[in-house]
Amino acid sequence: MTKIKKSPDLPDYFVEMDWRDREKDPQGFSEAMTGYYENGDVVLLRNSPITADYELLNKISLPKGTAYKKIRDDRFTRPRLNMESLRLHRYLIQHYPTLYRPVCREITRASAVIRDVAQQLFPHYRFTKTPCSWRFTPTGPEHMHIDHFGALEDEEEKWYLRIFLNVDREPRKWNLGYTLDGLAERYYDEAGMAKWKGGRGADFSREISQWLYGVKGENREGDWPRHEIEWATGDVWICDSLLHSHQVIKGRRMMATGFEIDPASMQNPALSLDSRVRGYHERLGALERRAS
Ligand SMILES: [Fe+2]
Repeated sequence: MTKIKKSPDLPDYFVEMDWRDREKDPQGFSEAMTGYYENGDVVLLRNSPITADYELLNKISLPKGTAYKKIRDDRFTRPRLNMESLRLHRYLIQHYPTLYRPVCREITRASAVIRDVAQQLFPHYRFTKTPCSWRFTPTGPEHMHIDHFGALEDEEEKWYLRIFLNVDREPRKWNLGYTLDGLAERYYDEAGMAKWKGGRGADFSREISQWLYGVKGENREGDWPRHEIEWATGDVWICDSLLHSHQVIKGRRMMATGFEIDPASMQNPALSLDSRVRGYHERLGALERRAS
């Protein structure tokens, strides 16, 4: 069972939805789900077909370090002619000779289901890439941060669908903090964010996140508020890590989607990252000008 110790100093942005309720009204269910997700809420999805053979996958571990940290599902099915792929398959065959094939098959099966469920949940999204990233290495403790990957300077904006599944037999411990909206409201002036006007949304989130929380490896301490969560084995949560301050405290096996979506297909494209950030500059930058 998911355990959440909620902070009174943060909004309660958790929503629980049950896949079985979808049967009665698939369209209404999808609209509600998409609305919550685009709003920046954290949706706990109960009783969905997103599952894995936890017993089997918990027999597999990969060494700590970036080389094995995040592995796309297709790397398990279609080994490539490069060192990264060779290293992974050699490691699995050497250490798990009898489990190698069932594990690769299970990852392929579960990933296909996850893609299918995502399309059923978000039928209007135009998916441009659908990688499922599987982790078998220990993670954490991380510093608090907002993810800031995404479109490069000259690329079209991307919207991401992030579905998480705790595959590990142990709970995955996370903290969630201010949303990006909350950070902007609170610190736009103090962090001098007006100078990023005209820039990409990901630049804004990187700058405000690093201004408050510091960078990876710095271990900056702070008393910023946090919801403390223990995701149980099999928990599925849908949460845009580009819109939430988060840190993994402890965890090992898990799956996270990094599905890329054309933002024009969003239910409300005004909530895309770039649009949100333009809104902060318009609203909060204007307040700053009035105050001075
Ligand atoms: Fe992250």
